[in-house]
Amino acid sequence: MYDLIVLGGGPAGYLAAERAGHEGLSVLCIEKEHLGGVCLNEGCIPTKTLLYSAKTYENALHGDKYGVTVEKAALDHGKVIDRKEKVIKTLVAGVKATLKANKVEVKEGSGFIKGRNAEGFVIEVNGEEVTGARLLIATGSSPAVPPITGLREQLEKGFVMTSREALELREIPKQLAVIGGGVIGLEMASYYASAGSEVTIIEMLDHIAGNNDAEMVKMLQKGFEKRGMKFYLGTKVTEITKKSVLCEKDGEKLEITADKVLLSIGRRANTANIGLENINVLTERGAIVTDERMRTNVAEVYAAGDVNGKSMLAHTAYREAEVAINNICGKKDIMRYNAIPGVLYTNPELASVGETEDTAKAKGMDVKVIKIPMRFSGRYLAENEGGDGIAKLVVNNKTKTVVGAQALSNYSSEFIVTCGTFIETELTIDDIKQIVFPHPTVSEIIREMVFQY
Ligand code: NAI
Repeated sequence: MYDLIVLGGGPAGYLAAERAGHEGLSVLCIEKEHLGGVCLNEGCIPTKTLLYSAKTYENALHGDKYGVTVEKAALDHGKVIDRKEKVIKTLVAGVKATLKANKVEVKEGSGFIKGRNAEGFVIEVNGEEVTGARLLIATGSSPAVPPITGLREQLEKGFVMTSREALELREIPKQLAVIGGGVIGLEMASYYASAGSEVTIIEMLDHIAGNNDAEMVKMLQKGFEKRGMKFYLGTKVTEITKKSVLCEKDGEKLEITADKVLLSIGRRANTANIGLENINVLTERGAIVTDERMRTNVAEVYAAGDVNGKSMLAHTAYREAEVAINNICGKKDIMRYNAIPGVLYTNPELASVGETEDTAKAKGMDVKVIKIPMRFSGRYLAENEGGDGIAKLVVNNKTKTVVGAQALSNYSSEFIVTCGTFIETELTIDDIKQIVFPHPTVSEIIREMVFQY
């Protein structure tokens, strides 16, 4: 009998288990594949490892801009993949050690909710039954596979890959077709284009990169096109053959041939085959319904991470896990989703937090948008020869607080943290003016921006 059983050992699951163990609860964490989940093993971390190699290679190729000549720059994809494996191993070992240090028991196997008895929730794992007074469901998500003719067959044959296989390829495909111009599609496209693939991105909408700032998205696409990537926007995929993707654009039929196809059109919560129906946990469009304390409709059952479908990001999962555990331990804690940063780790990075100009205006907010070229930052100029990055701050004229920020440049992922903090803490422009930023940093252009308000 445990105080808490956590189903899933990804970012939401392992962090929740760690925090609960730290609080003195007896915790069992059940993981069917790898501790660390998609993020550590086949998502965020491996992708960033690959992208860093690509960036290093690009820097070597174009080193002459900085007075550095590299005679024979080459990207050894095999070595890149080997290094990725090493990074994963180190991090997974770290998760294991931290769980152990917090006295969390871990069982490898698929957990299935059998029902409820007087003591709590009964979970079957590896043919054994275990009971927990409380349950946290953190089973994550899987790639969405739409009903496109030939898709399932070609996924089975390996012609079509999801991000999992794309991170394990040992050979660079000569031609890579990417279905879906969202986060996964663009990050993988960015790596494979640097590694030498001819990349074609097929996107259903008339723009890539989801709800990001429209101007920055166009700039990002232009930069990609300069690197040789091709884009088919507003394009519908109709069939996958054994060597191509058949599409329709403006009533015209197209055939895009490829050596490999990456499917990256979104992810779906993993709510099937875990026994949710045995305790009547409510789901909506396949995701578990949770409130602001991460509670489900069933008392003592919580859900955190991708499985609740709210914001499929590892950093959201971490915070949701903390909120769940704090509430379990009797400390009131509320999940807020208005200042969750999103980053596209392409080269350059595109980072965003809170409202864009368009979303703020659509909500009827009276905002002023301050836009600044990144070249105003000495650090940016020193390290980005020819760079044309920009940053924006969206300020609410009524409250004089920052409600959103976006940046397209190197270091955007770091820059955005500061802006997220402004939103969380509701600092006014006058408060921000008093903050000292280290010089030279890219983030110090925030000072320039607030003084332009
Ligand atoms: P996504 O939702 O970011 O993008 C999917 C794209 O596919 C959209 O632009 C959509 O319009 C398009 N699409 C949908 N159906 C299509 C079709 N039939 N044909 C052509 N295009 C189609 O999903 P993605 O990239 O698969 O990522 C999944 C999740 O993983 C996201 O929730 C994302 O937040 C997370 N993730 C986050 C990363 C980060 O924070 N850096 C990195 C990788 C993934």
